[in-house]
Amino acid sequence: MITNTELEYKGNLYPNTIVEFHRDTDKLYFTTSNGVILELTILRDSILRFRYATENIFEPDFSYSISENVSIGFNHLKVEETATEYLVYTAKLKVLLDKKTLRTQISDLDGNIINEDELGFHWEENYEFGGNSVKMSKITQNAESFYGLGDKATHSNLKGKRVSNWVTDQYAYGKDQDPLYKAIPFFIGLHNNKAYGIFFDNTFKTNFDFAHERRNVTSFWADGGEMNYYFIYGPQMSQVVKAYTNLTGTPELPPMWAMGYHQSKWSYYPESNVRAIAKNFRKMRIPCDAIYLDIDYMDGFRCFTWDKSRFPNPKKMISDLEEKGFKTVVMIDPGIKIDKDYWVYQEAIENDYFCKRADGAYMKGKVWPGECNFPDFTNPTVREWWAELYKEMMSEIGVHAVWNDMNEPAVMEVPTKTAPLDTRHDFDGHPCSHRKAHNVYGMQMVRATYEGIKKYVYPKRPFVITRAAFAGTQRFSSTWTGDNVATWEHLWIANVQAQRMCMSGYSFVGSDIGGFAEQPNGELFARWIQLGVFHPFCRVHSSGDHGDQEPWSFDDEVTNIVRKFIELRYQLLPYLYTMFYRYSKEGVPMLKPLVHFDQEDHQTHFRTDEFIFGEQILVCPVQEPNAQGRRMYLPRGIWYNYWTNEAVVGGMEKWVVAGLDKIPIFIKEGAMIPKYPVQQYVGELEIKELVLDVYYKNGVETSTVYEDGQDGYDYKKGRYSLRNFNLKGKPNELLIQQFKDGSFITSYETFKMNLHGLPFKIKKIQVDNEFVDLKDVKLNGNNNIHVSKDFTLLHIIGA
Ligand code: NOJ
Repeated sequence: MITNTELEYKGNLYPNTIVEFHRDTDKLYFTTSNGVILELTILRDSILRFRYATENIFEPDFSYSISENVSIGFNHLKVEETATEYLVYTAKLKVLLDKKTLRTQISDLDGNIINEDELGFHWEENYEFGGNSVKMSKITQNAESFYGLGDKATHSNLKGKRVSNWVTDQYAYGKDQDPLYKAIPFFIGLHNNKAYGIFFDNTFKTNFDFAHERRNVTSFWADGGEMNYYFIYGPQMSQVVKAYTNLTGTPELPPMWAMGYHQSKWSYYPESNVRAIAKNFRKMRIPCDAIYLDIDYMDGFRCFTWDKSRFPNPKKMISDLEEKGFKTVVMIDPGIKIDKDYWVYQEAIENDYFCKRADGAYMKGKVWPGECNFPDFTNPTVREWWAELYKEMMSEIGVHAVWNDMNEPAVMEVPTKTAPLDTRHDFDGHPCSHRKAHNVYGMQMVRATYEGIKKYVYPKRPFVITRAAFAGTQRFSSTWTGDNVATWEHLWIANVQAQRMCMSGYSFVGSDIGGFAEQPNGELFARWIQLGVFHPFCRVHSSGDHGDQEPWSFDDEVTNIVRKFIELRYQLLPYLYTMFYRYSKEGVPMLKPLVHFDQEDHQTHFRTDEFIFGEQILVCPVQEPNAQGRRMYLPRGIWYNYWTNEAVVGGMEKWVVAGLDKIPIFIKEGAMIPKYPVQQYVGELEIKELVLDVYYKNGVETSTVYEDGQDGYDYKKGRYSLRNFNLKGKPNELLIQQFKDGSFITSYETFKMNLHGLPFKIKKIQVDNEFVDLKDVKLNGNNNIHVSKDFTLLHIIGA
């Protein structure tokens, strides 16, 4: 075995022998003779935090990522000592710490090694900036796969890749380009059917190497701060993702309209243009809930102002649009124009809210308005001020929601594309340079925005969008994947990015449908809409300088296809809303790559295209021109082709027909998919009947439908309706039990159940153990029945 002394080359330093151990309730401290301390915290039996100090001193313990609502508590903790090691046991894990090297090895209680240090913690002193570069290396396990890490535009399985996290404005990025707009230093490892996660809670630039440089080694390191990571054990990947999401938090439920279709462009102006676009949606009968105003609504790109020649009366325009069912979303950027006559600039100068350079000058950078200063959003006082700036815009003018852009922060005409690294930040009372604050700058901006919007749209729910994000930003805001391009490759990228973000705790995500840069043709636009309606955030946005990108901008065939898929999204709103409810409440990702769905099936480990929308709908976009269908992998189980109702056995690749008017969609057998009628916008219609598409299964499956007031906070007082359905099919009967929770009274009285794949002819129906006249349930052939929404037991009996 190589000793750590032999490894002290190239300036790397290593812990040596453990000389002291003590326990302080849930924390264990191991100190080495050269002043390294490992603080091992037990959060849960399956969640451990490893934090390393050098020179015997920890930094103040502070994190922007960890949620206040994280659930902690373990059942068991025992520490044993032998001549060569310490052994730490929880109810789920065993951690072995080598006394000579401080290296750790984590196993489950059956002795399977889950994760193991190679060199373990080591560091390099940083002469220029002070502090350390902190490093960790692990042994890559046999056939190990890696997932997660936010918005990386590369194969979903990260094995063999090296990536870094430094939020960056990457206009027209390409496949494999890195870094992009998000920094989410969290990955999932999977080997021997067991999954674990590592969240490296360090805001400096972080790097991850997944057996790229050395075949058997996985490592991660940062340019400063502490080696501070959370280890999360599954063994199911779904448990890992849920636990990470719980650790870094979930958003509250957004208003349902935020899940509708949104139309954006850089930029819709003047007012007459905005009105014309809105009018055309209604005229063409294409559902739409929101219209976006990009930077050109502002007066000279000054945030919180209006260009009165383009928008003489924004309040009137917004309320007229609202009457037609449109919400107005406006952009706000971080750069504040240096202009002594501009009130926002004046307030910031008077109160000392702008970031300063190391020697005291204001940090300056060019953005849309020319030279700007940048508020220090890592200062809580600045965040409060920023939140208040939204007051007039939201409560007086009536803007519904806000879109924060360029918050990396993006700076033009400089090679680094961002603030100089010596820029100073408050970091909530832990003053630091931009090296440490860069990755959270946008997150703190959108956090402040969220606070302001939440306050001023009350009693409605806030909706916010951000471009830059760090781990935990999902608590405050939805997001999009930045400036993509209208190419087929980018359709592939959008699909991978959305799934990866969901696996990284961040589900409320979408891409600029159709591509931001360049002009899609009708076919690409149609294919992208078909994917986009299955993303949690569904918005068309484009740079606007290449032609139009509204649903009717192509030919009639495309318009009709686009309408059909936007309509499908509106039909699926109760399903989507239920997905969001589960994400918000339990941390369940809204989109799931196949490996998350069935990690034991090794075929899924390298699949990128297919994903599960929610729990029961399998989708696979067509990503090539001129296709009449595609090959795709169906995971194990039985799936109904949504278009043909044909039941297909999974666990293999299949050719699936999908001409331009179709995308491959399959429904899991046993599923009960709730649907609303098509509406032109959320809340247009009172729902008279809830459609439940029931897909027969010989066996058991559960489905959920969550509903509430669609906006506002009554649901927090119990005014929600949660229906859990337990479907049990046998060769000659179908039993459906309903369990209800919550006091919200839905507007409809009945369910219309569309019965798919029933293998028998319906003879009799019992509702709550009483036989009913088949006329009363309006039995239509063998296809559908109408039953009271209050049933607890529905029994459909065959001949
Ligand atoms: C960059 C954003 O990514 C894009 O969506 C926006 O249209 C432009 N900035 C202009 O505001």
